[in-house]
Amino acid sequence: MANLVIVGTQWGDEGKGKIVDLITERFDVVVRSQGGHNAGHTVNLEGKQYILHLIPSGILHAAKSCVVGNGVVIDPCALLEELDMLGEFDLKGRLFVSNRAHLIMPYHTAVESAEEARLADRRIGTTSRGIGPCYEDKMGRRGIRIGELAYPDLFRSKVEANVEFKNKILSEVYGAATLDAGEIYDSYMEMSDSILGFVTDTAEYLSQQVKLGKKLLFEGAQGALLDIDHGTYPFVTSSNSTAGGACTGTGVGPSKIDAVAGISKAYTTRVGAGPFPTELEQSLGEKIRERGAEYGASTGRARRCGWFDAVVVRYSSMINDVDDLVITKLDVLDELEEIKVCVEYRVDGEVTKHFPTTIEGLEKVEPVYESHPGWLADTSEVRVYDELPENARNYLQRLAELTETQISIVSVGPEREATILRQNNTRFNQVFNS
Ligand code: GDP
Ligand code: IMO
Ligand code: MG
Repeated sequence: MANLVIVGTQWGDEGKGKIVDLITERFDVVVRSQGGHNAGHTVNLEGKQYILHLIPSGILHAAKSCVVGNGVVIDPCALLEELDMLGEFDLKGRLFVSNRAHLIMPYHTAVESAEEARLADRRIGTTSRGIGPCYEDKMGRRGIRIGELAYPDLFRSKVEANVEFKNKILSEVYGAATLDAGEIYDSYMEMSDSILGFVTDTAEYLSQQVKLGKKLLFEGAQGALLDIDHGTYPFVTSSNSTAGGACTGTGVGPSKIDAVAGISKAYTTRVGAGPFPTELEQSLGEKIRERGAEYGASTGRARRCGWFDAVVVRYSSMINDVDDLVITKLDVLDELEEIKVCVEYRVDGEVTKHFPTTIEGLEKVEPVYESHPGWLADTSEVRVYDELPENARNYLQRLAELTETQISIVSVGPEREATILRQNNTRFNQVFNS
């Protein structure tokens, strides 16, 4: 029992960064397998805040290795900015970037902004980082891998061919400005020297680590409801943010995964457009947003806030095969007199626990709420589960029942210490303590 996948069970920003940083001490290698710098994972350490976008949140632990797997898409400018931000940490020999990871190119961001403008009120509300168009090129087999920066002639010919094609799309389809292949080539070559030292065959590296008995921690980005296959399509990201992505995005096989921990907020948030059944539009939503500081870690956008949706998290638990749940941001609910939980949906007069597979289906659902009395007490200093107020324990117990999971960690503040680790006999604890 060694390797654990961390996955967001809602629409992202569940507090994955905090939890990964917290538990990294029990693992040897922390691995990102999908997404790109659309992710914003916040770690608060000794009074300082770090927001990681591409590099795993385990990097703040000096002795641990970190891998950016083949399933990640990389904007080299974002990578260099992050390396710069981490200047105080020694990364040599412990940061490995897959040579198969695809590069985000300037034409990806240009096409994305033109496409979002074309969609107007049907836009996805993306992070504008070029993520979707980069994955499109990867699937279209015309993408450029980061390892190809080591072969300037090959890289130049690919850039030229792609820019010629994208310029047609930009000018003829969107009427947008075109790009210059030479400028792109020069700027990427200039950055390549600072990057190539980290680039290697990470599938091989991870396989060796597994053979040496090292423990791997997979850090999911986004959340299950943003998954390209299982999420609220088309209002999703362009990668598999569910647990399976940990395998395809790294080259580590499924039999090496020992447990999956799902991270959920004690309520729900979402950034960008798309269905959100339990969204609170009135002042209560704003109250939660202010108390929870619910503003995007990547884009600064205000996050939409709503009640915990047990239909969503049960669905998420099913498609990820979640063993244990980590509930974050319990403290954000401390001052509420009444807390609601969506236990099922009403669709055309019938109640159901089934999460609809289409947007049309989701638009019809009406959440059925159960009301819980608030605990009206400060939980941020609590470190032992049994010392939580009774109403808070009842609330958590109900979330576990409704989602058919066990809760192994409760987070009550952004700092590492503001955490309650339960010593229950869960699969997570078996891996954690092995
Ligand atoms: P991620 O993308 O899943 O890593 O989450 P983000 O970092 O985007 O958003 C989570 C936010 O909540 C960050 O600002 C964290 O510092 C903060 N946070 C995490 N856990 C807790 C908690 O238990 N309580 C409070 N109040 N804040 C938390
Ligand atoms: P972390 O890892 C929250 C959302 C965007 C948009 C949709 C598609 O911090 O949890 P994209 O740029 O990926 O094509 O945008 O996905 N989104 C996130 N929302 N947290 C994230 O990452 C997100 N990454 C993408 O807001 O709705
Ligand atoms: Mg985030």
